[in-house]
Amino acid sequence: MLETLQPAKPDAILALMEAFKADPRDTKIDLGVGVYRDADGRTPVMRAVKAAEARLVERQDTKSYVGLAGDPAFSDALSALVLGDARPAGRLAMVATPGGTGAVRQGLDLILQAAPGATLWLPDPTWPNHPAIASHIGMPVRRYRYFDDATGGVDFDGMMADLRGVPAGDVVLLHGCCHNPSGADLSLPQWREVAALLGETGATPFVDIAYQGFGDGLEEDAAGLRHLIGAVPEAIVAASCSKNFGIYRERTGLLMAMAPSADRLKVTQGALAALNRLNYSFPPDHGARVVTEILSDAELRADWEGELSSIRNGMLDLRRQLAEALRTRTGSDRFGFLAAHRGMFSRLGASPEQVETMRRDHGVYMVGDSRLNIAGLNARTVPVLADAIVAAGV
Ligand code: LMR
Repeated sequence: MLETLQPAKPDAILALMEAFKADPRDTKIDLGVGVYRDADGRTPVMRAVKAAEARLVERQDTKSYVGLAGDPAFSDALSALVLGDARPAGRLAMVATPGGTGAVRQGLDLILQAAPGATLWLPDPTWPNHPAIASHIGMPVRRYRYFDDATGGVDFDGMMADLRGVPAGDVVLLHGCCHNPSGADLSLPQWREVAALLGETGATPFVDIAYQGFGDGLEEDAAGLRHLIGAVPEAIVAASCSKNFGIYRERTGLLMAMAPSADRLKVTQGALAALNRLNYSFPPDHGARVVTEILSDAELRADWEGELSSIRNGMLDLRRQLAEALRTRTGSDRFGFLAAHRGMFSRLGASPEQVETMRRDHGVYMVGDSRLNIAGLNARTVPVLADAIVAAGV
């Protein structure tokens, strides 16, 4: 049977991780996978995470199963972090999932069950795993315009024109903040326009929020999503703790489904729990407990928020340094968008050939669509990257 198996289609981001590892040059620079790195190139365990883990080791007296939906204290704490005062009382079904990817997968599975013919509308571009998961489960996908390569910003007119044509019952995926791969986010007034439009058309929003706190701040990064939640009857939200808590390998995420009425809550919650059972039974627990401990303890929370702010400010500083280095070298503000983007990523606008040239001649690894991970840079490598960009003729 396995003799007929076809090779899996390689994931561009994970393939790049392997290529970087295999490159013997010690001058190589990894701007590929979305993992935060400090100025020394390390991905440290955050202080509050270490402290929370120590407490858990001390206190935990069983590793027995929790519930299919995970620990309700986690759902409560994380949904409050993400949705704040916009949390809809009595209408929010929630399950813990293995990371943000698990939440995306479960959310799409839920849609497939509830509305088998629904099309998923993805921003162009988007995280490659979005279309990959949709195609794996047989969900039709279409694209709406999002990023304008010419300006390095959002093509908002194009986006609105495309979204106006999305029929009721289809699903529109939006990035909550720190758009992956472009780095170009909607402003709050633009979120308001999108929310009003979806309210009118009856398309269901699916918000993937994987970088809350990496853009402008925990509250600021969720403001658009929170407004949207108040403006539409139902919505799906996939949240990840991988990046903002730095617990990538603990696989910690939450899927939230806002039911259109309190009456539909029970059946929605039941469907989500059943999906967990079918796909992996009980969700991972350790990361969820760590997050709950941090969010519910004033001291740990303040420390976590402080460290997250330093991470965010470090990335904003690197953005400014890179934009400035390119301004000096090119004599123009053509790359000014790098400083305006938010989160870990920016799409540079280089061709696949130019990306390849930078990899071959300068050991600079970025994803083929010219997405670069700003957190992979430091004060020493910013000028190296700027030189590589100019030498490649970007
Ligand atoms: C990324 O986009 O690089 C991250 O979200 C990691 C991943 O799983 O692709």
